[in-house]
Amino acid sequence: MRICVIPGDGVGQEVIPAAQRVLEALRLDLEFVRADAGFEHFQKTGNAIPDATLDAVRACDATLFGATSSPMTRVEGYRSPILALRQTLDLYANLRPIQSLPGAFSRPNLDLLIVRENTEGLYAGRERVEKEGMIIAERVITRRASERIARVAFQYAQQRKKRVTIVHKANVLKLSDGLFRETCFQVAREFPYLRADEMLVDAMAMRLVTNPQDYDVIVTTNLFGDILSDEASALIGGLGVAPSGNIGASNAVFEPVHGSAPDIAGKGIANPLGAILSAAMMLDYLKQAQAAAQIRLAVNRVLEFGVMTRDLLSDLGRAPATTDEVTRAIIAAL
Ligand code: NAI
Ligand code: MG
Repeated sequence: MRICVIPGDGVGQEVIPAAQRVLEALRLDLEFVRADAGFEHFQKTGNAIPDATLDAVRACDATLFGATSSPMTRVEGYRSPILALRQTLDLYANLRPIQSLPGAFSRPNLDLLIVRENTEGLYAGRERVEKEGMIIAERVITRRASERIARVAFQYAQQRKKRVTIVHKANVLKLSDGLFRETCFQVAREFPYLRADEMLVDAMAMRLVTNPQDYDVIVTTNLFGDILSDEASALIGGLGVAPSGNIGASNAVFEPVHGSAPDIAGKGIANPLGAILSAAMMLDYLKQAQAAAQIRLAVNRVLEFGVMTRDLLSDLGRAPATTDEVTRAIIAAL
């Protein structure tokens, strides 16, 4: 199988090689194809994601992506490569699992799956100046995208705890989130043996802190899913450990939830677990469930042994491990 590898910017260049080393240690039949994307590449070439990269992603069986930097202010010609990938390849389902890890940094007994719509909502890129001092951002919700994301959520719930919570703000966004909500409940009727319920996004944000163990699959629109999944990652140790997958009909891109982390980039201290667990999700997608399970077991063993980067350590008396030390420990555990 061919794997496209896009490290990107900042810590992406540290955690993706780490994940690749773990994949190589499994001795599966994998061929790695490196491709460029990101702000650094944009500054060198004027292109954030060259066509060669899109072609490589299309030609490979799956892609492992690190992170890219996006400036807070507008830069002419620059658009976030991961948003471009999601939209160009129609990677409509963003899967963000939240599973407990062994260690004081994680809450116990959590097994959540956030299913985020990945192609529209407030990420449709429709922002405009209406007049001086007034900007309008359009939030696109379609029946088609709502229906297919709901179907993904219910299909995953079938293999899990059999419950889907539909998260929206239909009390205020009566038309747009009204359509999302109504469409999700319509899809729910195709799965009569599953439980479907709903929660307003603000209440969900609170319940994720107070009662996260009560939930199974959460399905929601693009921005809400982005925010809730970062919040939920804090329950299991933070952004450094959270994996994700962007899945379409014929392509899939796996990436840690975190960004390029410029505050720690280049120091060799980034947590590689988010990237390594994303590689495990990729193996599941490639029907290599046993190898995926092996990675997760090795990660758990290493954490139980107390080998972890500083973002997971509250006890400052203990020496934190580097990216390389954690990676080597995982390979040894494999
Ligand atoms: P960030 O996720 O890069 O960092 C947030 C905090 O988490 C920082 O304190 C960072 O040190 C820490 N952190 C992140 N990854 C870590 C890891 N592997 N190990 C240990 N600590 C880690 O988010 P931030 O700071 O909001 O954004 C930085 C840049 O990343 C921006 O340019 C942003 O646009 C970009 N970004 C890219 C994403 C992507 O490519 N998918 C996603 C989110 C942000
Ligand atoms: Mg995010």
